[in-house]
Amino acid sequence: MPVITFANTKGGAGKTTAVLLLATELAHLGYRVTVLDADPQRWISRWHQIGDAPARLNVISYVTQASIERHIADNRYSTDYFIVDLPGSQSPLLAKAIGLSDHVLIPIQGCAMDAQGGANVLELLRFLDEKAGIKVPHSVVLTRVNSMVTTRALLAVKMLLLNRGVEVLATPIIERAAFRDIFDLGGTLHSMDESRVSNLDKAQQNARTFALEMLRHVPLKGTKPISETTATRRFWQAA
Ligand SMILES: Nc1ncnc2c1ncn2[C@@H]1O[C@H](COP(=O)(O)OP(=O)(O)OP(=O)(O)O)[C@@H](O)[C@H]1O
Ligand SMILES: [Mg+2]
Repeated sequence: MPVITFANTKGGAGKTTAVLLLATELAHLGYRVTVLDADPQRWISRWHQIGDAPARLNVISYVTQASIERHIADNRYSTDYFIVDLPGSQSPLLAKAIGLSDHVLIPIQGCAMDAQGGANVLELLRFLDEKAGIKVPHSVVLTRVNSMVTTRALLAVKMLLLNRGVEVLATPIIERAAFRDIFDLGGTLHSMDESRVSNLDKAQQNARTFALEMLRHVPLKGTKPISETTATRRFWQAA
């Protein structure tokens, strides 16, 4: 059961949105998913309470530094992917969750302030590696990217990260109304009414490509990473 943690100490970077997209897409593909909602705003817990969530997706609320390890242990055999949504600030949970993760995903918006919040997480990952020999695979996902233009700020952030040897996912998460609406409407991108949500098809495609890229980065242990063709076939079978 790979543990994937989303971390950026800057608030509003798009962590919770990216967690929900990954969790719902993985559940749609047939994986059993548990989300550990450690965000004090509890958006994912509230989304889950609206109803219409996939049966394969379980949400755990009210997490403490002391309880996180137990939650992971309790779900090890009943969950395929365990996803952690962290608070948007420095918190004792951050180091603990990172140390327990198989992959840390750092959502960064294409602006300097976000890059700083992401840099704090990257520093912590480097510290764990140098001082404790704990190497946690990690990558950055660019978020809230404008679908029409590639801004200079975004390109600058991307270049900065690549120059430092930080892996950046090929799939950015685009700014889409559907990614906001899902929190109000409940359910998934696949249960939304396309006549009420603009560009729903593009949002679905973006979320799917993001989830497929993550599956290649973090395959289930004992299974080979699934090819794009197989994953796409499974996706359409599940649709
Ligand atoms: N790809 C996107 N498209 C549209 N809106 C987005 C997208 N990503 C994030 N948002 C919006 O930006 C705001 C912040 O996003 P989100 O809550 O996901 O960030 P966060 O990093 O979890 O914040 P916090 O640090 O406060 O927990 C929310 O209003 C959310 O709806
Ligand atoms: Mg959040």
